Amino acid sequence: MPDDKIFHMTPEEFRRHGHTVIDWIADYYSRIESYPVLSKAKPGQIRASLPPAAPAKGEPFEAILADVEKLILPGVTHWQSPNFFAYFPCNASGTAILGDLLSSGLGVQGMLWATSPACTELETHVLDWLVPMLGLPEKFLSTSTGGGVIQDTASSSSLCALLAGRERATGYASNQKGCDGKLVAYCSTQTHSSVEKAVKIAGLGAANLRAIAVDEQFAMRADELAQQIARDKANGLVPCFVCATVGTTSSNAIDPVPDIARICREHGIWLHVDAAMSGTAALCPEFRHIHRGVEFADSYCFNPHKWMFTNFDCDVFYVADRKALIQTLSVLPEYLRNQATESGTVIDYRDWQIPLGRRFRALKLWFVLRHYGVEGLQHHVRQHIALAQEFENWVRADSRFELAAPTPLNLICFRLKAGDAANQSLMDRLNRSGDLYLTHTKLNGKFTLRMSVGGTNTQRGHVERAWKRIQEEASRAV
Ligand SMILES: Cc1ncc(COP(=O)(O)O)c(C=O)c1O
Repeated sequence: MPDDKIFHMTPEEFRRHGHTVIDWIADYYSRIESYPVLSKAKPGQIRASLPPAAPAKGEPFEAILADVEKLILPGVTHWQSPNFFAYFPCNASGTAILGDLLSSGLGVQGMLWATSPACTELETHVLDWLVPMLGLPEKFLSTSTGGGVIQDTASSSSLCALLAGRERATGYASNQKGCDGKLVAYCSTQTHSSVEKAVKIAGLGAANLRAIAVDEQFAMRADELAQQIARDKANGLVPCFVCATVGTTSSNAIDPVPDIARICREHGIWLHVDAAMSGTAALCPEFRHIHRGVEFADSYCFNPHKWMFTNFDCDVFYVADRKALIQTLSVLPEYLRNQATESGTVIDYRDWQIPLGRRFRALKLWFVLRHYGVEGLQHHVRQHIALAQEFENWVRADSRFELAAPTPLNLICFRLKAGDAANQSLMDRLNRSGDLYLTHTKLNGKFTLRMSVGGTNTQRGHVERAWKRIQEEASRAV
């Protein structure tokens, strides 16, 4: 058998098919509104349309791409549709797609500075840019005691923060000996479920997570937090971690970070601030108040992959004391030893995250920041918030509806006054229609619709049409 046979795509084939794929994506965006936003696929439908085994012989690229259109698209929920108002946005942009493509093309694995210096240094640099852009404290800068790192998700940031808090509270003994059942973590009843998961993974045990009560605006009650910490300490337990949220998932509530921070400082507890979706709003000086108190936090994260036009995955995580994080997560086997690491003059991001390997995600973030500039990002954030505030007024003006929570930014929580069944029916009708996609939560035990405005291409007309469709279907659902 000749040993020069190759099955790889040649550079010329890559160029040709690459152009076709870019054309396909551009066409997809121009026709995206013609698809039902929520996929109509039934469970198992997509698998049933695929061959039971992988092909023995390679197939032409054209056939593969044709099957994307025929077999895959029916099972796609169009997250990038301007009529997508569900969950929180996970918005993409042309710029970020191209940055991500370049990252794939370079195929760099940046676990160490030495494995691709640009991967590390661009990340450090771009994350330093974001500190003043978001009005974050200088201690998060790499030139200070802290620094930033890109994680895959906010869930990973919470876990890393919790682990560092756990280690700091035990003098780095729990890494050696494991947990003794005495460590306690705190969040609110509205905190994202990723903190509960983190507590399980970190070995604290879900029973040692305290979900603190919230006020009428769904924000954590600092007085309840203080009382719970006092009770736990009196019982010989060791409080080690508090997660405050800037923009909760259910209702976009903003926890009182300054008050929570004061309590954490008093007891030496690690404070993590999760601003996964809402942090982006701080790009605009008029919304920067959401970061009040973050100057006292030990760590903070927000997701450019939610509302900052940067393709999934991209969560930005800052710590005030990088030594605590590195001491918690660093393990150095012989095969990773190198001169740059030994010199102590470089950052090895493998020590700042759970996995060893990492993609060159800074590239897409750098592209986004350079393409939009601060001005462009502010423009779109302001537009989304203004549209949401307008939507809130429309809800207020229709006597069939009520608002279920304040609208500090771009999420409106509302419902029909007619009760849970009517609201469920309204949401199901809207989502089945394919015209838009909304999801729900429960607030004070009541089924509540969430209208989340943050799609890259969502404009006034889309929000107006959504409200018109909601009003039409409401007449049928009541
Ligand atoms: C406040 C908050 N924190 C954390 C998360 C989890 O995000 P990720 O998927 O990046 O882990 C979400 C997701 O919506 C969120 O809203």
